[in-house]
Amino acid sequence: MATIQIDLSGMKGFFKAEDFEKFKKDSPVQQRKLQNKTGKGNDFLGWLDLPSKISSDEIDQINQLTASVKNKVDFVVVIGIGGSYLGAKAIIEGLSDSFSAFREKGTHPKILFAGQNIGEDYHYELLDFLKDKNYAVVVISKSGTTTEPALAFRLLKSDLENRYSESEVRNRIVAITDSSKGALRTLADQKGYQTFIIPDDVGGRFSVLTPVGLLPIALAGFNIEKLIEGAKDMEQTTSTETFENNVAAQYAVARNVLYAEGKTNEILVNYNPKLHFLAEWWKQLYGESEGKEHKGIFPASVDFSTDLHSMGQYIQDGKRNLFETVISVDKARNELRIPSDPEDLDKLNFIAGKRIDEVNKMAELGTRLAHIDGGVPNIRITIPEISEYTLGQLIYFFEKACAISGYMLDVNPFDQPGVEDYKRNMFALLGKAGYEAETEKLRDRLQGE
Ligand code: PA5
Repeated sequence: MATIQIDLSGMKGFFKAEDFEKFKKDSPVQQRKLQNKTGKGNDFLGWLDLPSKISSDEIDQINQLTASVKNKVDFVVVIGIGGSYLGAKAIIEGLSDSFSAFREKGTHPKILFAGQNIGEDYHYELLDFLKDKNYAVVVISKSGTTTEPALAFRLLKSDLENRYSESEVRNRIVAITDSSKGALRTLADQKGYQTFIIPDDVGGRFSVLTPVGLLPIALAGFNIEKLIEGAKDMEQTTSTETFENNVAAQYAVARNVLYAEGKTNEILVNYNPKLHFLAEWWKQLYGESEGKEHKGIFPASVDFSTDLHSMGQYIQDGKRNLFETVISVDKARNELRIPSDPEDLDKLNFIAGKRIDEVNKMAELGTRLAHIDGGVPNIRITIPEISEYTLGQLIYFFEKACAISGYMLDVNPFDQPGVEDYKRNMFALLGKAGYEAETEKLRDRLQGE
């Protein structure tokens, strides 16, 4: 049963009715292109039916590995970047206790991440932290050649090799990569690491429902069957061409209608810090899928009410090219009421006895009204609570809407040619063989600056 609700009433008055009708009429056309695999990037549509196609064997394999690692190590370092990092990070942060890092040992290993940056201090501190710890590594790279995870893996592999025998190192490393191509596949085969496969037709940012996301999420102690069940229900809900019943089509249409009105920046808003990394995942999904051919909505994000004290002024009163998409959570996981204070110096006794969540909800409603008054259209996406099931729904919902929306923009939502440019420059500047001409060109350019 899909439970995501979308409310477009907060964008009333910000668009022309005929534009809405135009995009609404276009949405089944774009959906059909996806379903029939006739649109751009149609060799990367494996994610479309992942939730309904995932085999129980694959889930069993992940759960078995989780069970065997669970009592063996205290930490698992998950190495990956972009689509090989953000999905797992988003779900794990969404479901974890906010202070789990500082709590005593739990039932599952604590998950650490690496390979998502090239900070020397980060890596030094990670190795320093791990030096007396019992840990394993999950290295994730579809291409197997991405610099950031390859660097981190080199460091951790060498640390493990200095500590353990060859067979013990093998027990402590799992690789998630392509079935046959790439450096990580070659290394894993040579060394005999256990591997999981990223399907050929699933791109990085659409891969959270493959072992890329599922293994780290299971290792962190969360229920991947529930996550998949949520995604599967959303797969079914969003397969209809009836606009009124299809939340993904509604979201895709709403964003494109607003974009046509010059609302070029979308801010994903949450009122629950657990959703911070869901927004980071969402930014990659939409930014990398739509930002092409000098087109696309710029995806940004804020955590409210925290950022009402930093970004609130701009959103209320700055350049009017923004719209907000709020992820609203109906029910907090825990109950906590505001105590009464005999002195009442902070003048908060008027809300004594109320739940913290009620104050949060009024902050949300008050902000929605103020921002709409200030010229910021509002899309509201509601989930009943944060759980494996609802996050599974959200993941699939955003993926499907992103694909429909990308097709409406007439771009290929499944490639990322622009990501290569910085890499070429970085390799040329580092003097990599094969980049000599670029190195010389860049040196001349830098000397001229
Ligand atoms: O969405 C994408 O394809 C990218 O963000 C990749 O996930 C990211 O660059 C990591 O690539 P790889 O898994 O090949 O190391």
